[in-house]
Amino acid sequence: MAKVESDEEWFQARNAANIAKMADDAPLKQRAVDLMAAAEGYEYCYHFRWLGLPIIQYPQDLVALQEIVWTTKPDVIVETGVARGGSTIFFASLLQLLGGDGQVVSVDIDIRPHNRQAIETHPLSGRVTLIEGSSTDKEIAGQVAELCRGRRTLVVLDSNHTHDHVLEELRLYAPLVGSGSYLAVLDTVIEDFPAGSYPERPWDHGNNPKTAVHAFLKESDRFEIDQTINGKLLLTVAPDGYLRCVKD
Ligand SMILES: C[S@@+](CC[C@H](N)C(=O)[O-])C[C@H]1O[C@@H](n2cnc3c(N)ncnc32)[C@H](O)[C@@H]1O
Repeated sequence: MAKVESDEEWFQARNAANIAKMADDAPLKQRAVDLMAAAEGYEYCYHFRWLGLPIIQYPQDLVALQEIVWTTKPDVIVETGVARGGSTIFFASLLQLLGGDGQVVSVDIDIRPHNRQAIETHPLSGRVTLIEGSSTDKEIAGQVAELCRGRRTLVVLDSNHTHDHVLEELRLYAPLVGSGSYLAVLDTVIEDFPAGSYPERPWDHGNNPKTAVHAFLKESDRFEIDQTINGKLLLTVAPDGYLRCVKD
């Protein structure tokens, strides 16, 4: 007798089919990139807050990260790039909702006093360890590794967006991520924006997190791009940036 699929299976299957079709719709993807590039002119990604603190992200990416946290249930979330603390508190809030004693380890080269104070006085601050220093400093990476030892770890890279910096971060932090968990590399979308979009920044088309991800994937067979997340977000700062670890 044929197996009757559940409503959940049916719902997943129809969504997967639509996502796969949409992922092949190059004109739609280009319209999304054009929209994001135009919105960058208004610093769109600066316009949101999470539980009171500014978070420099697109809402779609926050939903994707929430899905990853819920399905992988990390013990530790490592993020590089704290800025005003919104992403730090975002991750802390998800760990709080999961229950347990999950911790966020956040690294930034420059944690301004008012941002540190906002994080350290937030109701969720008990879940946060702030580390000031460059994410590619071996001593800093060592401190982070110590805090993750033996714990299921999700890594999110969102600091300096040059190719060399992100590639070095990938080499330093990928070993913390075990099979089934994720390494998210944000701001890969810089590669898809017109060259010269960031005249005051050291990154550009050809020199950004996406070029680093592609170089890293040639070095390591431990990660693959999650094509379901990649295909469905459309409006995202992280195309090709959600990497699933497939090998310990
Ligand atoms: C895009 S912001 C982070 C945004 C934050 N994750 C959020 O979602 O609100 C980038 C941050 O990276 C930090 N940064 C720049 N170079 C760095 C480095 N070498 N190591 C660590 N952090 C760095 C900057 O100080 C800045 O706060």
